[in-house]
Amino acid sequence: MYKAVIRGVGSYLPETRLTNSEIEQMVETSDEWIQTRTGIAERRIARVDEATSDFAYHAAQAALADAGLEPTDIDLLIVATETPDYLLPPVACQVQARLGCRNIGAFDLHATCAGFLSALQVAEQYVKAGVHQHVLIVGADTLSRFTDYEDRGTCILFADGAGAFVVSRSDDPADTGVIATTIHSDGTYFHNLYIPGGGSRTPYGQGAKAKIVMDGRKIFKLAVNVMATTAEELLAKTGRQKGEIDWLIPHQANQRIIDAVAESLDFPQEKVVSTIQNIGNNSSATIPIAVDTAIRDGRIQRGDLLMLVAFGGGLVWGGALVQY
Ligand code: ACO
Repeated sequence: MYKAVIRGVGSYLPETRLTNSEIEQMVETSDEWIQTRTGIAERRIARVDEATSDFAYHAAQAALADAGLEPTDIDLLIVATETPDYLLPPVACQVQARLGCRNIGAFDLHATCAGFLSALQVAEQYVKAGVHQHVLIVGADTLSRFTDYEDRGTCILFADGAGAFVVSRSDDPADTGVIATTIHSDGTYFHNLYIPGGGSRTPYGQGAKAKIVMDGRKIFKLAVNVMATTAEELLAKTGRQKGEIDWLIPHQANQRIIDAVAESLDFPQEKVVSTIQNIGNNSSATIPIAVDTAIRDGRIQRGDLLMLVAFGGGLVWGGALVQY
């Protein structure tokens, strides 16, 4: 079997910033409350003329440049998103055309905040089986369009952006790449984090708002539990030790969730990558953005062992153990 290596990484953030003091003007809250309870000081959000495919396109371009590849080298394109530009067509097709890829397979994958790691697992299978040489996976979301800026329990968290990996086939004995991946779901909790309106059950304009509704306290506890369990599952499955992990990169939902996952795993905080303070929670984009940020600032080096874990509405959760 071939190996699936992370050949390129890139990300893109919209320029517009939404600060805590601006949120103080919208709902009854304070900068101090938001920073203490979430670790977020500001978030990046889309301009009126920007949407998910724009962020996905820029992140994909950055990952291709990092991989030293052309769009025509890509054999399959997957965009993980819960906030497509349109319900139809897939964002992946818009990105395929804009990049100038061949007429390759291109589809969206919807697994909320665990979408990017689900896409990584799909890419891993295609590449390890020898079906494709290069798979481009993108996590891109524009949560600001589905955020209720009258709900102080959610509008403090959500943000926009995109991140991407090029996952490539290798038979070099020196490479390790993706070691193991895992994904899970439990749909019984769907109503604890969902968008009631805008889908086929309650179409747009028929009462329910197309805005995120969340039971934050419940999701908080579930998130900590499933991300810590996922990391332990991957260690058990691969026979690796916690001490071998160079970087723990959890979904960036809330700094207190990130801290609690590290604490639950008894993992040193200085080896945890967090980008939430100035970016916020941009769903399927948080993990590739955090990986890209830590590569660019010199923390993550080639050969480092990365533990990636995510959870999101659904519920869905998953993880990946990867040698970068
Ligand atoms: N400002 C001030 N007070 C607030 C705010 C706010 N922005 N939001 C809630 N409060 C109040 C509540 O009303 C409550 O008041 P009460 O005690 O008088 O009832 C009090 O603060 C405590 O509320 P909690 O909900 O218990 O606050 P908590 O510490 O849990 O923080 C938060 C809320 C930040 C939402 C947290 O629960 C959280 O981050 N949950 C998980 C979110 C998450 O990970 N979501 C998944 C997203 S991933 C995806 O799929 C998009």
